[in-house]
Formats: sequence, C-alpha cells, structure tokens
Amino acid sequence: MQNLSIDPQRLWDSLMETAKVGGTPKGGICRLTLTDLDRRIRDWFVATVEGLGCTVTVDEVGNMFALRPGRRADLPPIAIGSHLDTQPTGGKFDGILGVLGGLEVLRTMKDMGYETNAPLMLVNWTNEEGSRFAPAMLGSGVYAGVFDRAYADARDDRQGVTFGAALDAIGYRGTAKAGSVTFGAMFELHIEQGPILEAESQTIGVVTGVQGMRWYEATVTGRDAHTGSTPMTLRRNALVGAARLVEAVDRIAHDHAPAAVGTVGLMEVRPNSRNVIPGEVFLTVDFRHPDDAVLDRMEVALAEAMRTIPAALGLGVEWKKVWDSPAVRFDPDCIAAVRSGAAKAGFPMRDMVSGAGHDAAYVARVAPTTMIFVPCAGGLSHNEAESTSFDECAAGAQVLLNAILDYDARIAG
Ligand code: GLV
Ligand code: MN
Ligand code: MN
Repeated sequence: MQNLSIDPQRLWDSLMETAKVGGTPKGGICRLTLTDLDRRIRDWFVATVEGLGCTVTVDEVGNMFALRPGRRADLPPIAIGSHLDTQPTGGKFDGILGVLGGLEVLRTMKDMGYETNAPLMLVNWTNEEGSRFAPAMLGSGVYAGVFDRAYADARDDRQGVTFGAALDAIGYRGTAKAGSVTFGAMFELHIEQGPILEAESQTIGVVTGVQGMRWYEATVTGRDAHTGSTPMTLRRNALVGAARLVEAVDRIAHDHAPAAVGTVGLMEVRPNSRNVIPGEVFLTVDFRHPDDAVLDRMEVALAEAMRTIPAALGLGVEWKKVWDSPAVRFDPDCIAAVRSGAAKAGFPMRDMVSGAGHDAAYVARVAPTTMIFVPCAGGLSHNEAESTSFDECAAGAQVLLNAILDYDARIAG
C-alpha cells in the first residue's frame, strides 16, 4: 500500500472555516437542512471540489456526488460520504468531519498526483439529522430505496414547509434519479458521539454496525380551560398526560438496560399560555437498541402506556410509528480495510456498534459500507460544545485515506 499523509492543519482550517456558516455564539453550528445556510455550504462544497477537478452530480433529493476519476474506468467508484446539515444546537464535527475528512483525502491525492485504481466519489447526503424533517437519513434512505421521492418531498417541518418546497427553494433539486449515481463501496468517517473511545484511550472505532432505531409521534388531547377557576377534579390536562408518558418512555428504556435508550426530545404544548390548562400536547419518542427483538418489546410497552396513561386522566391520544430503521451490520471487507488502515497508522482501535444513526446504515443496503469513529470529548454530541481534537480529526482522516488505499488495492487485485 502507498504511503500518503493527509495535511492535519488544512483539514482543521476547513473545519473551522466552514463552521462559520451557521456558527452559533456558543461555538456550535445551527445549519438545518435545506435552509439558506445549507445552500451556502453546498455552494462552497461545489466550488471546492470543482477546484480539485471533480465533477458534481446532484440527485432529485439533493444528494451531492463529486467524482474524481481513477486509473480504471471498469471499476465502480469508492465513495466517502457523510452530511453537512446539523442539529439546531449542533457541534462542529457531527457529519461535517466525514465530508471534510473525505475532502482532505481528495486534496492529498491531488497534491501527490496520486491516482487510485477505482474512481473516488465524495458524497454529501441530504437531511441526515432529521431535526427539521423527520425521519433522519432521508436523502440516503431515498438513495437506497427505503423511501421514495414522493415520500421525501411530502415530509414537512413544524411550520408546515415541505421537504420538496425547501429543496426547490435552495436550488438543489438535481436531475439525477435517486440511486442512479452508483458506487462500489462507501466509507463514512464520523465522531463517536458517545464516551467509549475516550474512556478507553482508543483513537479509532472500527464500526461493525448500527443499532436499531424507532421514532413515534403522539398527540395527547384534553381540554383548554381557565387555570384559576377550573377545579382540579374537573381538568383534562394534556400536559400531565404527556409528562407521565415521558416518565413511561424513560422507564421502558431503563427496563431494557443497559443497551436500550429512550427519549422524548420534542414537545409542543398548546395553547402554551400560562393561564390556560394545556388542551393538546404533541410529542416525539425515540427508542434505540442493537437488537430489533428488544425494540419490539419496548414498542409493546409503549403501546400499553399509550393505552392506559391518557385514559386514566380522561385524555385522548393518537400515536403512530413514523420511522423504523432496523439494526445494521457492515461489510467485512470494508471493515478489514479500516482495521488495516488504522494498524498501518499505528493507532489503538476497538470494534464498536454505533448508537447514532448514520447515512452509512441505509447505504449498507445497496453497497458494501462501513464507518470509522474518532473520539469526542466526554462523549458529548448534538451539543454546541461537541469537541474532537485537532489530532483526533487528523487521525480519522488518515485512517480514512489508508482504508481507501487498502480497499482500492483489494478490488483492483
Ligand atoms: C442522527 O443524528 C441520529 O442518530 O438521530
Ligand atoms: Mn451525523
Ligand atoms: Mn447528528
């Protein structure tokens, strides 16, 4: 395998420079998908990769593919991909490191005049976060055939703006049919978003799969009434019902410890006035576990909570599952390339299963895929204080480069 070294300073400078697009006072990024800030970072992406001689194709859901030719046109491209959108209080690394780490790989190869056997493809997937438009991993999901384009277009944000309208508005609706821009494998570099690597002083996480994830939405209905004149016995307070459901979600996750997690992360109280008893509450539930059978049991427990808790308070409830992403196992050859890439760079590593969702989870349905994790301080992510060091970012990009070279040699041989 060829020895090529990425430029850690150039990678770090790109991370810090692009973090200004949507940068927050607390040092994070708020760059929600398909907003004008997303358009700006996409424009930057296009200009930057075109400057490296890449050709950019955009598909019908806004996924962006930058192609760098290889020596052999008979080999399918090796893709490197992640996302440039963030949470509302996102950090500077979630998703972005995977795209800019891939960019650093392309820049290094260009500087060294190095040609891979297979073409390389750098991908920015649309709406990975799922914060503005649920579900998460929507662009890669359409690419992989999990969702169709019409389903994606119809997703709406909490203001009622649809994904399709927002995509058209920023001018990134491409003409390529989703799934038509193919590649032979994909590698995604990402921060761990959990505490394990840091706690064990490991530099690289060799990601063998992604745990299962399910999202639900519920609307609890009571009756708006005056807070001063309505006796406690006559109230139908939807927020009390919602609060008990929050407790139930937390308990269900604890009941399936240690691997289960459960969260109510979004709640809308209506009419949200301090002297009106809340008549309606909308809330979301996020359950995750590496074993889909356990998620089935958690879902049964949730159904029981939805049946009994509102009824006991004289409330109504409507709830549904809006997303089911089963547990994923990554490709052994891609995983082997990451292991050998980390060993070549001399970094300590361990195998792990991802707790977070990633585009790689859907891409794995249509192409050999895996991920590389690097630590983040305190395991903190989806937080403006999210932090991965200069050296850790560099280590991840170097292992990404090594893994690509290793995989390229494997498929050429
Ligand atoms: C995406 O960031 C997820 O794991 O929810
Ligand atoms: Mn991410
Ligand atoms: Mn995220």
